[in-house]
Amino acid sequence: MVGARQRPWHDGRVKLRTLIPAGAAAGAAAIGYAAVIERNWFALRRFEVPVLPPGSRPLRILHISDAHLTPGRKRLMSWVRSLDDLDPDLVVNTGDSIAHPESVRPFLDSLGPLLDRPGAFVLGSNDLYAPEPVNPSRYLLGPSSSWHVQKGPDLPWEKLRDDMTAAGWLDLNNQRGRLNADGRNIAFAGVHDSHIDKDRYEQVAGQADPAADLRIGVMHSPEPRLLDQFTADGYELLLAGHTHGGQLCLPFYGPLVTNCGIDRKRARGLHRHPANGQAWLHVSAGLGTSPWAPVRFACRPEASLLTLIPRHPG
Ligand SMILES: [Fe+2]
Repeated sequence: MVGARQRPWHDGRVKLRTLIPAGAAAGAAAIGYAAVIERNWFALRRFEVPVLPPGSRPLRILHISDAHLTPGRKRLMSWVRSLDDLDPDLVVNTGDSIAHPESVRPFLDSLGPLLDRPGAFVLGSNDLYAPEPVNPSRYLLGPSSSWHVQKGPDLPWEKLRDDMTAAGWLDLNNQRGRLNADGRNIAFAGVHDSHIDKDRYEQVAGQADPAADLRIGVMHSPEPRLLDQFTADGYELLLAGHTHGGQLCLPFYGPLVTNCGIDRKRARGLHRHPANGQAWLHVSAGLGTSPWAPVRFACRPEASLLTLIPRHPG
């Protein structure tokens, strides 16, 4: 009887001795894959967006976001540089471009010939504040907006802004603007990062120019209240980043969190706003990660080529 009681414990200990190392090995493999392979496995997403007036020829927009560039990320830099081969008519950068005090020059070098094309940008919180070590589980527990304690900006965001502006790109941080891209007259409005309460929609509020060929709203974080305001003012294409697409996703389930107010289903990709409304929303899952959370799982780093085509009749 004693032996009969002991055998299940004995079997359990054998199973545990087998399962614990197997689980640890699987976990280490998953982290290695997420940190080394997927984080450098850049994807180009292509979408067609039926948003132009009837009869228009297509217009190509390259949407980049969330590079979080540190000077050593050579693969990221050369991949971004190669995107010029797509021959976009317009480039939009939705922020979080740098993650290191010495990253402005490498980021601009990454853009390379893209800077000679019409472009527009907003900044994200990570363009202002150097990344700090965090427990990765905090991503799952709430928005990262509270992490920036009472400190001033410590990254060279003004240089980043000035250099992109000097190249001719439109600064849309709480500003409106206008660009001509491939002969099309485009009206823009943008806001600074709502994630750190720097958005001032009231400074850009008002009806978008109905005479423009296209109206684009640009923001870093896709907060629903901002999406509602842009849409109410007539902006028909809304571009945002910030979510990293969830960064750590579950296959067949998707992102666990969005790090802002947008719903999980629209944490990345092309959707309508409101869900059954008129405007189109594209959220980029971004090119990078914080240097302190250098992993992506089931959520490859990306840039997107949006080919705008005429609206469907009716
Ligand atoms: Fe980001």
